[in-house]
Amino acid sequence: MRLGVCYYPEHWPESLWEDDARRMKALGIEQVRIAEFAWSRMEPTPGEYDWGWLDRAIDVLGAAGLKVVMCTPTATPPKWLIDRHPDILPVGADGRARAFGSRRHYDFSSPAYFEASQRICTAVAERYGKHPAVAYWQTDNEFGCHHTVVSYSPAAVARFREWLKARYRTIQALNEAWGTVFWSMEYRSFDEIDAPVATVTEAHPSHRLDYRRFASDEVARYNRMQVEIIRAHSPGRPVAHNFMQLFTEFDHYKVAADLDVASWDSYPLGALEEQWFAPDIKARWLRSGHPDFASFNHDVYRGMSKLPFWVMEQQPGPVNWAQWNPAPLPGMVRLWSWEAFAHGAGCVSYFRWRQAPFAQEQMHAGLNTPDNRLDVGGNEAGQVADEIRNVLAANADANATVRSKAALVYDYEAKWLFEIHPQGADFHYPRFAFEYYSALRSLGLDVDIVPAGASFDGYSLVVVPPLPVVPDDFAGRLEKSGAQVVFGPRAGSKTRDVHIPANLPPGALTAVLPLRVWRVESMRPNVTEAVILEGRGKDGEKDGENVGDGFARHWRDFIDSDASSALDVRARFADGHPAYVRSGACHYFAGLFDDALTQRLFARIAQEAGIETIPLGDSVRVSRRGALTYVFNYGAEAHTLDEVAGNAFVIGSCTVPPQGVAIYRS
Ligand code: GAL
Repeated sequence: MRLGVCYYPEHWPESLWEDDARRMKALGIEQVRIAEFAWSRMEPTPGEYDWGWLDRAIDVLGAAGLKVVMCTPTATPPKWLIDRHPDILPVGADGRARAFGSRRHYDFSSPAYFEASQRICTAVAERYGKHPAVAYWQTDNEFGCHHTVVSYSPAAVARFREWLKARYRTIQALNEAWGTVFWSMEYRSFDEIDAPVATVTEAHPSHRLDYRRFASDEVARYNRMQVEIIRAHSPGRPVAHNFMQLFTEFDHYKVAADLDVASWDSYPLGALEEQWFAPDIKARWLRSGHPDFASFNHDVYRGMSKLPFWVMEQQPGPVNWAQWNPAPLPGMVRLWSWEAFAHGAGCVSYFRWRQAPFAQEQMHAGLNTPDNRLDVGGNEAGQVADEIRNVLAANADANATVRSKAALVYDYEAKWLFEIHPQGADFHYPRFAFEYYSALRSLGLDVDIVPAGASFDGYSLVVVPPLPVVPDDFAGRLEKSGAQVVFGPRAGSKTRDVHIPANLPPGALTAVLPLRVWRVESMRPNVTEAVILEGRGKDGEKDGENVGDGFARHWRDFIDSDASSALDVRARFADGHPAYVRSGACHYFAGLFDDALTQRLFARIAQEAGIETIPLGDSVRVSRRGALTYVFNYGAEAHTLDEVAGNAFVIGSCTVPPQGVAIYRS
């Protein structure tokens, strides 16, 4: 557990650097990320490098005892490079190239950019790869930020054709897989295939999904190139990338497979403002962020990181980029920092050391105000640094690995498929995955977030949000684990090529879920369908217990009534169709239920899985790491932990105030 900060020596007079480094160290900062946007200073004119300033900056940081996270500067290609190779610019769906003048103005498929990136990455890695102060690396910055994964350039289309050839081998196989006989779309060669864009009405879904898969693979290829260069010149130094919160435009599992550290950038208030949350939810958590939002991302990145994951950028105060930018409540920067550690983080690094008084982000807070005084977030970072020292001194296992009994399957292709082929306008996969996660967290459970290809051994409960395409061995792996498994609607509803399975959904899952979804319907946002629970015990006998009612929204599956006779029907829609059925350890939700009903059902299934739950409500959250239990209070009222002995507390006490943190040994 340690703290870091993002620093831009190129933004400040050199006369400030030593004092900055000294003050960072005094605050308890241990690592400093630099240079991810500094290409125009590293190479002011083509082929002429200016390393002097960067040598001195790294020396100053190293001399102060700070470890440097060195970045490749490829998120911001300089003007001269773009002028030489305008084909580096990505092309939007409107067919127009994006302009120079902000950042991420490059196309992952551009051969000129690939080469230029190889060159600058090699130059940086050669120069600093063995510098004693350089301890870690970061590739690029936030792949995909500002919607930059998919490009429709000629270079991208050319590489897409190659990608298709490798996947299908013959054009006949592609025609068959896509079903291009529909609307006379048959192709005679791969060279006839364009990007699925600018069509009169919707382009072919299989074509679109393959284009998204291709674009995702391009990100992985580009990152791999950088990682290989860094490893060759800087052996033994872990390589990270800073992913984004709830970002889904490429398959993060594939990119993370090439890294040592999956890190992410946490902006809880900006995220709340920009995501799907209803206005009353946005108002409720305005200055704290949603209690499950940062955690969800921590668990996503913990799951794919070989070394402990990091928060590479932590929101320190108001940001500049959301529609409205509230200030965090006092205590929240500290709470967010501890929450990351509770979820297994190795480092929390604040963005940024000092607020810049110029350019796009001049309204974005730092740990220091532009006139160089410690801001609220800076003070809280200092408090966290002191607390970390105490926690580590007294608890040898504080850095233990998080162990969860519950897993949630999270899949990037599912997001693309439902976006391409939604059938209901608001079928937003990340939202539904988040809602299931949030329900589990509100029951006090620690949750691992894993890919569909994971081993499920060791879990007692596995929750599968709507997953249209399931791996062939998915059912087998789930069954082998012995876990109770909850499937959301639309599970197994498509093949890899985006067809309806021959036996109808849930397709390959019928091995464990003997049912047939013969019809589906999507529901307008203001429409719900009542769900009536059967009140049966786990052995399927009525026990008279009334477990209550709820409703479905957005979607419902109609389950074949013949098949359902072999199933334990645990809830029905008001019109009598099954809403929740069980077969052995597998549970199928034929709709997306309201939060209260989802929580209630998860609690019951967790009990059947032998996992203890705690009804936490919506503002208190609990996490466990090693022998330490962490309690976070996002709410406006104090929370009391009656059952914990006073001398068990490492931080805080039985009364956890609003925005407070308590840590105790169990
Ligand atoms: C991140 C980005 C940083 C900075 C920050 C502002 O997305 O990586 O460079 O722009 O947002 O919140």
